[in-house]
Amino acid sequence: MSADNTTTQIDSGFLKTLAVLYVEDDDEIRELLSRFLRRWIGTLHTATNGQEGSAAFLEHKPDVVVTDIKMPVMDGLEMAAAIKSSAHEVPIIVITAYSERDYFIRAIEIGVDQYVTKPVNTDILLHAIYKSASHRLHQQELEKAEKLLIDSLEQTIVVLSRAIEMRDPYTDGHQKRVALLATAVAKEMGLPDGTINGIRLGSMVHDVGKIRVPSEVLSCPRKLTRTEMDFIKTHPDSGYEILKDATFPWPVARMVIEHHERLDGTGYPKGLKGEEICIEARIIAVADVVEAMTSFRPYRPALGIEAAIAEIRKGRSTIYDPRVVDCCIRALERAELKFWT
Ligand SMILES: [Fe+2]
Ligand SMILES: [Fe+2]
Repeated sequence: MSADNTTTQIDSGFLKTLAVLYVEDDDEIRELLSRFLRRWIGTLHTATNGQEGSAAFLEHKPDVVVTDIKMPVMDGLEMAAAIKSSAHEVPIIVITAYSERDYFIRAIEIGVDQYVTKPVNTDILLHAIYKSASHRLHQQELEKAEKLLIDSLEQTIVVLSRAIEMRDPYTDGHQKRVALLATAVAKEMGLPDGTINGIRLGSMVHDVGKIRVPSEVLSCPRKLTRTEMDFIKTHPDSGYEILKDATFPWPVARMVIEHHERLDGTGYPKGLKGEEICIEARIIAVADVVEAMTSFRPYRPALGIEAAIAEIRKGRSTIYDPRVVDCCIRALERAELKFWT
């Protein structure tokens, strides 16, 4: 495209893929600009006020919105606010006169992306549309790439989790069930989605260090000797060693090394206290105990959910985070105590 110097950078093929919604109440201006835009844009939808524009937005889902400000029924900024509240990522370009600069602050608050001043220079408007749309496309590609990366990291964790559980049939499914309960607890606590996802994945590999413990010890049908127990207690450190160099977007290695720490400092391996232990590990610790007590072990039968709840209640505030305990009990009650079935 070579309309003039302003537009030499524009890829006209890309413009032809776009759908644009143009909202303007002045018939003459709307006709004039529409005629120009139709020459360059793939699909152009028009509306004569904010209300019509909002309806057209919902119907056509355009890639970019271009709007005048002062219009009858609903003005351009009210419409922009409505669109941004449901589709934050859609770029909005406001056409404004200098006399309307009082609207600028409101427009910034709403999150309007660009301004074009009146009288409209068509090439500047086209440039603004192109820039907004390519920025959005770039953002979408970044989000896609990030999702792909997160998905493959999650797959790695799932595979690792399966590998550990295949070695130790007695705790088969343990990490998965801890992940299920820890996630429910984190949700009950109202933690952000990213943290909840990290807790789910950290739970799925929290016992990865057991890979260094001989399977005869792991599946020993009697109560373990002190030496064997000491050996098992090395698993948080071993897990940390395995995971410490992996760059996950969640503190997985820290969750693993801290999941046997206790609030009063009686846990292992470091004897951390209170908030020195990350919140993720404080949640996994409680879910871990509940899962272990409700599951069969070669040296004892399953102890039942009531016994597990009594145990975490007993340790509330002394060894377990009180908020985590309360939310865990609530999550179990919400699931009608049928978490593992
Ligand atoms: Fe553990
Ligand atoms: Fe565990």
